[in-house]
Amino acid sequence: MKANYDLICEQWKAVRNEMPGKDSELFDFFLNGLPRPSKVLDLGCGSGLPIAKRLTESGFSVVGIDRSEKLLEQARENVPQGEFLTAEIESYDIDTEYSGVVLWDCLFHLPREQHRLILEKVYQTLPKGGLLMLSSGGSDIDQPPFTDFMFGVEFFYDSYTPDILIALCDKIGFTVEKFIVVNKPDGANDKGRIGMILSKGGI
Ligand SMILES: C[S@@+](CC[C@H](N)C(=O)[O-])C[C@H]1O[C@@H](n2cnc3c(N)ncnc32)[C@H](O)[C@@H]1O
Repeated sequence: MKANYDLICEQWKAVRNEMPGKDSELFDFFLNGLPRPSKVLDLGCGSGLPIAKRLTESGFSVVGIDRSEKLLEQARENVPQGEFLTAEIESYDIDTEYSGVVLWDCLFHLPREQHRLILEKVYQTLPKGGLLMLSSGGSDIDQPPFTDFMFGVEFFYDSYTPDILIALCDKIGFTVEKFIVVNKPDGANDKGRIGMILSKGGI
């Protein structure tokens, strides 16, 4: 199931252009909390739309990483000022300090056993006051990992419940600055989504 976004890159391009209202409010909070100019790392950046584009338009230098070569090709076209690299989030060695990190609609594609290590890695790269914008599944009931189909292609999903994720982030050292329920589970395949802005040591 490696780089399955390559298989739906054209459909993704057609649907992923703007951030829905609630996500956008959270993104504004993130942007307003970062020093400018500064560097932001976008993990699982996809096509660069809308996140990396808005970051560069707001005066940030952006490094985006993703496993999908095809989405990265789109990102280089959509955001020529950005730097985009092919890598797996779980093994990517973050060797620079970033004032902010985006991990949006991506962590849930990895097995939950890897979430802690990734969040710890992000924490290490942030300076004091640095921010992480994170989304995850929204179910309060612990769900086992599952797969679902998007544009006919199977995708893997796994998330801790929001309470467990918050406790994990707290243990790592993050402070929750903002928490939103983006959408609630629908009782079927949609397990809902939450979004958070986390800081290293408060803002
Ligand atoms: C739902 S898309 C979100 C893209 C972007 N963050 C956004 O919000 O528009 C998930 C992205 O995560 C990438 N991805 C999933 N698992 C990954 C992994 N282990 N390493 C790198 N990228 C990954 C996919 O290729 C895809 O581009």
